[in-house]
Amino acid sequence: MRQLFSFALLSFVSFSSLLSSASAAAADYHEQLVLRPLPLSALLASFNFRSNTSLSEFEAHNFRFFPRSLGQILQHAGTQELHLRFSLGRWDSESWGARPWGGAREGGTGVELWAWLQAATDEEADHKWLTLTNALSGLFCASLNFIDGTRTTRPVMSFQPEGDHPNMTAADTHLLYGVLPHEVVCTENLTPFLKLLPCKGKAGIATLLDGHKLFDASWQSMAIDVKPICPPGAECVLQIELTIDMVLDIDRSKRPRGNPIPRPPPGHELPCNTSKSYHAPDTCFPTDHQANQDWTLSQIFGRTMKGTCPLTDPAVPPVCLHVPDSRSVFHSDGVLEKKNLDRVSRCFEIQPDVDFEIVLPAPEDESAVVVKPVTPLLYAERSFTGHGQERGGVQTILHNPSPDTEVEFVYMESLPWFMRIYLHTMSARIQGQTAKDDSLIKEVYYRPAVDRARGTQLEVRMRVPPASTVFLTYDFEKSILRYTEYPPDANRGFDVAAAVITILSPAAYNLRTTSLLCSLPTPDFSMPYNVIIFTSTAIALAFGGMFNILVRRFVAADEGPEVGLAALKKRIQGRVSLLVEKLKKGKTGNASDESGTKPDKLETVDTAQSIEGALKE
Ligand SMILES: *[C@@H]1O[C@H](CO)[C@@H](O)[C@H](O)[C@H]1NC(C)=O
Ligand SMILES: *[C@@H]1O[C@H](CO)[C@@H](O)[C@H](O)[C@H]1NC(C)=O
Ligand SMILES: *[C@@H]1O[C@H](CO)[C@@H](O)[C@H](O)[C@H]1NC(C)=O
Repeated sequence: MRQLFSFALLSFVSFSSLLSSASAAAADYHEQLVLRPLPLSALLASFNFRSNTSLSEFEAHNFRFFPRSLGQILQHAGTQELHLRFSLGRWDSESWGARPWGGAREGGTGVELWAWLQAATDEEADHKWLTLTNALSGLFCASLNFIDGTRTTRPVMSFQPEGDHPNMTAADTHLLYGVLPHEVVCTENLTPFLKLLPCKGKAGIATLLDGHKLFDASWQSMAIDVKPICPPGAECVLQIELTIDMVLDIDRSKRPRGNPIPRPPPGHELPCNTSKSYHAPDTCFPTDHQANQDWTLSQIFGRTMKGTCPLTDPAVPPVCLHVPDSRSVFHSDGVLEKKNLDRVSRCFEIQPDVDFEIVLPAPEDESAVVVKPVTPLLYAERSFTGHGQERGGVQTILHNPSPDTEVEFVYMESLPWFMRIYLHTMSARIQGQTAKDDSLIKEVYYRPAVDRARGTQLEVRMRVPPASTVFLTYDFEKSILRYTEYPPDANRGFDVAAAVITILSPAAYNLRTTSLLCSLPTPDFSMPYNVIIFTSTAIALAFGGMFNILVRRFVAADEGPEVGLAALKKRIQGRVSLLVEKLKKGKTGNASDESGTKPDKLETVDTAQSIEGALKE
């Protein structure tokens, strides 16, 4: 009886602990997909997966929701906070407006990594950074191990830690930033990314992530952020956030899988703008993309969503949609639709085991197709100026659209060592004014490059007055590399990483320019090939002639056998006379059979002797 009681107590205790861990688990992980149709038939899909793990448990190697593979790497490299980005394409802020997450979850084209490492000295930090990049390179199947000294900088003004670091001191924490603009982000980076999720992409919103659709997007960014958070009066937690943002083209996504190549539609299917004055049955001005605004989830992602992840917090709706209130939205059964108070977003609560599908029919009201995008705080564009193979320039156009607020930001460039910038040529001027304006640049941090050892680091704190455009320009000189330092595709050019713009006021906002392609003076790599071909030809000619001279026999013309028509005639005559003779002899009797061949033999012997004689002479 007592045993039974203790057993019941034990099972009750274990059951309640299970229950409490389950409820803790629910609050510690959540995932959400936000769909936001954008102008010009674009659709922004933001996937967010976030989990908390108590820091003391993490340090005791009890990783819970934290992916073990990544956790061990971070512990081994003494990483306090980590941010990793894989991006592709260009965010078109003129059409799409402000960036998702205020630009905090995106990187420049290629791969970007920055981390706060705990180390006593710079050398130790470099060593840990090397360990970290090499381990992450293996984990994400990316060439992160190519982030060497020349591609690593230590930003001074641009990055601030996002997490809480109560024990952090400037002396033992080092911020390192590395960038690989040339890296092509592809499916092999998505698979390890999905493996880090608690549901491994088998349930929940992650089932919508398909490499074919993700890497067909107009713009996409995958981000991993690890940071400690210490809420007041509670235990510190380590938070890992995985984010995928992509802008899909609705028309292109609706293309069936069997027809992957976009082809122009036939003439009679082309949507025409009938309001143009010259519109006629035989003239068509194609309309903007606004026509095809109806879509379903399975058309866009190629599949429906498979239930929800059982570990996710049920209080957080897994899918939300931002469309004007007037647009009708249909969804599959077993889904609860909740309209938010802001009247633009509605969220869907989904049963764990149902397939989720939403259908957006074409809107009745053409003016309310999408929610108007928010204007960003700043527009930035960067390009090369100048011409020739020796010198060049960089021009960044920064436009502040706000009519009354000044924008202050830090502009950071990490340039490769072979672009040697002339800092004295750096200037900022407001559009419409020819003189440079010294009050625009407030502070400059410059760390010059060292050939083959480190790149240039340039950080400029500057401001752009309201409703104006500022041109920031500087000149640089191009180096000539050593022969072996050129990549196999040297004539393609060298990628220059995106400039990072961190807005300090009026609000925190980040943006990146596009990366640039710099063409360096490139030697003519066909030269060695030409030399090889030329020498081979010369050798072949010389050897052929020599061989011919050594082997050929020379005979004087009159000593050799007669050739030509005369000789042939003579021969035929000989044969004919022999035949006649034979026939005569056949009639008179077989005196000699061999006589017919004798003159021939004699003749050959004669020629052989005459050649030998000629050679002796
Ligand atoms: C994790 O912890 C933070 C800070 O306490 C909290 O805001 C958040 O809701 C928690 N859960 C998740 C899933 O992020
Ligand atoms: C900071 O240090 C205190 C005392 O050494 C420790 O209890 C706490 O966990 C540390 N916090 C972090 C975030 O490392
Ligand atoms: C058609 O052309 C008119 C006049 O140029 C323009 O205002 C309108 O926006 C166009 N409509 C579409 C759907 O492209």
